[in-house]
Amino acid sequence: MLRPADLDALAGWYREHARDLPWRHPDFDAWGTLVSEIMLQQTQVARVRVAIEAWLERWPTPAALADAPTHEVLRQWGTLGYPRRALRLQDAARAIVERHGGVVPRDVDALLALPGIGDYTARAVAVFHFGDRHPVVDTNVRRVVARAVHGQGEQGPAARRDLADVEALLPGDAADAGVLSIALMELGALVCTARAPRCDACPIADACAWRAAGYPAYEGRRAPR
Ligand code: ADE
Repeated sequence: MLRPADLDALAGWYREHARDLPWRHPDFDAWGTLVSEIMLQQTQVARVRVAIEAWLERWPTPAALADAPTHEVLRQWGTLGYPRRALRLQDAARAIVERHGGVVPRDVDALLALPGIGDYTARAVAVFHFGDRHPVVDTNVRRVVARAVHGQGEQGPAARRDLADVEALLPGDAADAGVLSIALMELGALVCTARAPRCDACPIADACAWRAAGYPAYEGRRAPR
């Protein structure tokens, strides 16, 4: 069971250990946040870090991307993989221009209605850029919650349970809630990893149901430490 003191410890850990990534800087706008979240879904952070800069320099707004020749968009996407994402991103840019006057909407439902924008991306933009209060759940968050809250080594398929679980943990204040979501995500990326969790570096190890249960159902490459 994660209590408020554990969540505070997690937020403190995040402030101390979070990676300094461009899309976490306050000057990153809503469009940059949206593009980076789409890139990050299937591409490693190190590669997105390089690609996002060139992308935003070339197409700094939805309107700029909406007007770009599609072959240029695909070429710029380059080696990020899954190039269909580039086409969907251009579709989303065009919809932002047509429906929202070129301004990325803040509302989760309006974001979700854009082509290629799923539940994770819509919430990530609303929370990480606009500072609204919603649970944000990606694979890393799901794994941390499956372990720390439910005592399960690996998460099952994505479920509404995950959103409800994170919602139940969120502090009432939107800014604190945003920090909790990004801290859960960063913990899953850096410490509570799928195949080599480092429980000795985990700020919530003492409260973790999975650790308390003796790490059941785990097939990672290295025993949890
Ligand atoms: N910070 C905000 N969103 C992120 C993501 N999807 N991956 C890594 N860091 C992030």
